Amino acid sequence: MSTNPFYITTPIYYVNDRPHIGHAYTTILADVLARYHRLLDHPTYFLTGTDEHGQKVQQAADKAGMTPQQQADQTVVRFQELWDKLDITHDDFIRTTETRHVKVVQDILSDLYARDEIYRAEYDGWYDVSSETFVTEREAEEAGGESNPNLTRIKEANYFFRMSRYQEWLIQYIEANPSFIQPDFRRNETLGFLRKPLMDLCISRPKTRLSWGIELPFDDQFVTYVWFDALVNYISAVGYLRDEAKFNQWWPASIHLIGKDILTTHTVYWPTMLKAMGVAQPQTVFAHGWWLSGASKMSKSVGNVVNPMEMIDRYGVDAFRYFLIAEMTLGQDASFSEEAFVRRFNADLANDLGNLLSRVAKMIRKNTDGVIPAVDGDPLTGEEEASVWASVQEAVQAIHQSVDTLRLDTGLASVLAAVRATNRYLELKQPWTLAKQEDRAPLHTVLYTAAEALRVISALLFPVMPERMTALREALGVDQVEPHMQRLAQFGVLQAGAPVADPGVLFPRIKPLVSSIEQELPMSEPTPQPSTPAPAVPPVVVPGVIDYEYFAQVQLRTARVVAAERIEGTNKLLKVDVRIGDERRQLVAGIALYYTPEELLDKTVVVVTNLKPATIRGIKSEGMLLAASKGESLRLITVDGNLSTGAVVK
Ligand code: MSP
Repeated sequence: MSTNPFYITTPIYYVNDRPHIGHAYTTILADVLARYHRLLDHPTYFLTGTDEHGQKVQQAADKAGMTPQQQADQTVVRFQELWDKLDITHDDFIRTTETRHVKVVQDILSDLYARDEIYRAEYDGWYDVSSETFVTEREAEEAGGESNPNLTRIKEANYFFRMSRYQEWLIQYIEANPSFIQPDFRRNETLGFLRKPLMDLCISRPKTRLSWGIELPFDDQFVTYVWFDALVNYISAVGYLRDEAKFNQWWPASIHLIGKDILTTHTVYWPTMLKAMGVAQPQTVFAHGWWLSGASKMSKSVGNVVNPMEMIDRYGVDAFRYFLIAEMTLGQDASFSEEAFVRRFNADLANDLGNLLSRVAKMIRKNTDGVIPAVDGDPLTGEEEASVWASVQEAVQAIHQSVDTLRLDTGLASVLAAVRATNRYLELKQPWTLAKQEDRAPLHTVLYTAAEALRVISALLFPVMPERMTALREALGVDQVEPHMQRLAQFGVLQAGAPVADPGVLFPRIKPLVSSIEQELPMSEPTPQPSTPAPAVPPVVVPGVIDYEYFAQVQLRTARVVAAERIEGTNKLLKVDVRIGDERRQLVAGIALYYTPEELLDKTVVVVTNLKPATIRGIKSEGMLLAASKGESLRLITVDGNLSTGAVVK
C-alpha cells in the first residue's frame, strides 16, 4: 500500500452569488481526482469551502438588504446543496467566517507584524475601485488615469506585507521547480509578471471603507484584505498552528486547483506569504481554463451563464460530470453548449457504453441462467480475447497517467476506446449465434471476457460517474466498495455463478437538439442550379420586424485576422484564421475576389461566433465574417478605433 498522501483543494468561492458552471467544474474536477487517488489507495484529503469576507460579499448584502453574515449564511447553503447533489466527496468545507479560520489568520498577522514582515505606511497613489486593488502609476496611466471612473487617487494609512523582498527568491523557486505552476504556459505568465518590480502588498482596508473582514489584531481600525484572509484557508483547514499532527499529515498540498483568473494571487501572493511564515510551498498550483458559452465568456449581464442545477435536472448528475471532464482539455478554455452535451452523451454513453452493458447483461440473463458463466482454461489465450484485454489494460494505464498529468480527457478517451473495442469484439464473435450451438464453451468465453472488460471499465469510470457505475457494477454483481487499481490489472476476478441483474437503461438516449435556423452559407460560392426542380423546401419566412430576442441569438464578436490563405480550386474563397479573445478559429469566407490574404492580416473584423460549423470544400469553417456589399463591391465590417479582440458586438 502506498502512503503517498494526496491533498487537493478548490478555490473557496465567494458567497455574493449562486454557484455557476465554473464553480461546479472546479469542484467536480477536484472530486474526480480525489476519487481516483482513493482508488489508488493514497490517503486523500479534499478541501473546498467559501470565501465570505470582502467587498463583493458586502456589496451583495447591501443590495439584498441583509447583513453580510446573513448573505453568507444564505448563499453557502446553495453551494453545499449543489455539492451534495453532484456527489462531491470533500473531507472538509471551510467557511472563512468560522472561528477556526479567523483566529489562525489573526495569529499569522500578529506573527508577521512582530517580525516586521508587515509594516504601516502612508499610501498616496491610485486605487481601482472595481477590483479593490492599488495600482501603480504605470498601470493607472495605461488604464486611462483620471478619465477612468474606476480609478481614484487616495491617500491613507495602511499595512503592507513586504512582498517585494521575496521577488528574487520566488523567480528562482519557480525556475527550479517546474511542476510548481502548471500548465507550463501559466508558469511563463507568472514569470513574465515577475519581470516587473514587485510592490509590497497592501493587506489592510480601513474600516471606514470596508468593515466586512477580519480585524487586524494590532489595529482595530482596519480589517485584512480579503486575499490575505482567503488564501490562508488552505492551511487553517488542516490544522496550521492548531493541530500539528494533522497539519504535518496533509501539508504541503499536492494540488491547488484554480481557474486562470486567480493565477497571480496563488502563484505570487501565496508563495511569498508562505515563505514569510516559514511554511513549505504547495507542490502544484494548477490553473484551468474557462468554460465559455459557445464562444463567448459567460456573463450575468449577457444572460448566458449555465446553471448547473438545470443541467443536472435535465440530464442527470453523472452525465453532467462526464461531459465536463471529458470535454475540457485541462488548461485550455472549453466551450459549453447543450448541443455538444447531447451529442457526446448519445455517442459515448447511450450508444457505446449503454449498448455494451445491455448486450452483455441480456445475453447472460438469457443464455447462461442469469449468472456469470464458468470458463475452461484461460480465455486470454484466444487472440481476440487477448486483444480486447490489451485495450482494457491500455485504458488502465492511460487513466493512471492522466491522473498524474491531469489530462483526464485523454484518459477517458482511452476508456471509451476500450468500450468500443469490446463492442467490436462482440460483433466479431456474435454471441447471439454462438448461443445456438451445442458447445457452450465459446459462448461462455465471449460473455465472460466482455463482462470482465465491463468490470474494469466501470471501475475506471467510477470516479467520474459514481452513481451510474455503481448501478452497472451492481448489475454485474461486483462489490460496491471502491475497487482498488491493483485488481484492475487481473483477469478473472468475476466469480462464475454470481447472478447478473437487469441493469435497465443506464443512459437513455436524448433526442438530439437541432438548431432552429438552418444555416446558409453566405458569401460562399453559389451552388450550381439544379437542372431538375429542387425538392420542395419550406421557405424561410423572414418577418419584417423581429423581436430583440431573435437578434440576441446571434453572437457577434470582434476578432483579429492572424492568418489567411487562398483555397485551391476556387478563386472566391479564403481560409481565414482569427483570434477571438483567447481563442483561435478557422473560417472559410467568400471574399477572395475583394481581398488578398495579405491585406487581411491583422485586420479587426466582426465574426458570427455561434453558427453551426460547416465544412466547405473539405475545410472546417467555424463562424462567419460580416461584410457589407453592394453591386460589385464588398467591404468587411470592422470597428471604429482600438478594442481588444473578443469584444461583444451588440
Ligand atoms: N474567492 C476567490 C478565490 C479564493 S481562493 C483562496 C474567487 N472566488 S469565485 O467565486 O470568483 O470563484 C472563482 C473560481 O471559479 C475560479 O478560479 C474558477 O475556478 C471558477 N470559475 C469561475 N468562472 C469560471 C468559468 N466560466 N469557467 C471555469 N471556471 C471559472 O475567485
